[in-house]
Amino acid sequence: MKILAIESSCDETAAAVIEDGRKIISNIIYSQADMHKIYGGVVPEIASRKHIEVIEGITREALKNISIDEIDAVAATAAPGLIGALLVGVNFAKSLAFSLAKPFIPVHHLRGHIAANYLAFPELKPPFLCLCVSGGNSIICKVDNYTDMSIIGSTLDDAAGECFDKVARVLGIGYPGGAIIDNLARNISEDFYKFPRSNIKNSPLDFSFSGLKTSVINTIHKSTQKGEDINQNKLCASLCQAISDTLVPRLALASSITGINTLAIAGGASANSIIRADIEKMATDKKLYLLPLNLCSDNAAMIGAQAFYEWRAGNIGDSYQNATASMDIKINF
Ligand code: KG4
Repeated sequence: MKILAIESSCDETAAAVIEDGRKIISNIIYSQADMHKIYGGVVPEIASRKHIEVIEGITREALKNISIDEIDAVAATAAPGLIGALLVGVNFAKSLAFSLAKPFIPVHHLRGHIAANYLAFPELKPPFLCLCVSGGNSIICKVDNYTDMSIIGSTLDDAAGECFDKVARVLGIGYPGGAIIDNLARNISEDFYKFPRSNIKNSPLDFSFSGLKTSVINTIHKSTQKGEDINQNKLCASLCQAISDTLVPRLALASSITGINTLAIAGGASANSIIRADIEKMATDKKLYLLPLNLCSDNAAMIGAQAFYEWRAGNIGDSYQNATASMDIKINF
């Protein structure tokens, strides 16, 4: 079963062809990051317009070494994400699918992130726990089956990636900020700034990053007002450590509460070196799947992987299929 998959939920326009949910035949990603850089974040209207401009070319590129006649279905991210951006991918994929008389498969973006693991690890099967941390979401997901999963821990406000990106904006070091902060934090072991770690009363698997974000930004502003230099490397290391200290113990707790000892990670912020090192230390007595960096950030290969399992479960879209800005990971399309 070969699926052509489209991803356009934020600022990457991507197309891929995936076989049986596990094998990457092609995987093309066009990042709009350079266009959004000057604004310090994604501008939804600009993102939608750029998706319209490049989606056909990116799809042709993904189909370069395979005939369209060999494609059995077309999939697209249909939720959650920027609504205008999602609509471009959904309508493009739907039109293509119906013009070819093939099924259209709508895919939940976070289910896709989790499914990136099926591409990297052929032996991985549910059940497992996945820490999925991206620009818009930070969750601990219990994956009971390929299309049956639930959030058991989550940020109550900002995502980890949002925290990285906004701090980077205030520091003026570029967009997206996560990888830049990660690099600046390298080789610093000291937690100099000791930023706060959240604790949610009666909700041990939930967390919050907005207080952390405010604390880091206030530290930067106070130093600027006093005319003092901020040590960017130390600040970035303390931020990464605070985020990791928030996420990793909760993943460990989720494992002991559920009794599930198979762990995976996903999402752009799961590329963070401190988070990855801390998870490796925590999971010495567990089966850990550490997703390769090239599959952490948004891509269409992960959508094609999940689409295969949605198709197998009968979760097929019709011509009325819409895109949705937010949607629980539990719900099937
Ligand atoms: O998964 P993703 O590509 O897009 C969403 O689905 O949101 O995640 C993008 C996020 C951005 O916030 C970016 O700053 C962050 O992932 N990111 C990182 C790293 N690489 C990307 N955050 C921390 N450390 C990194 N190395």
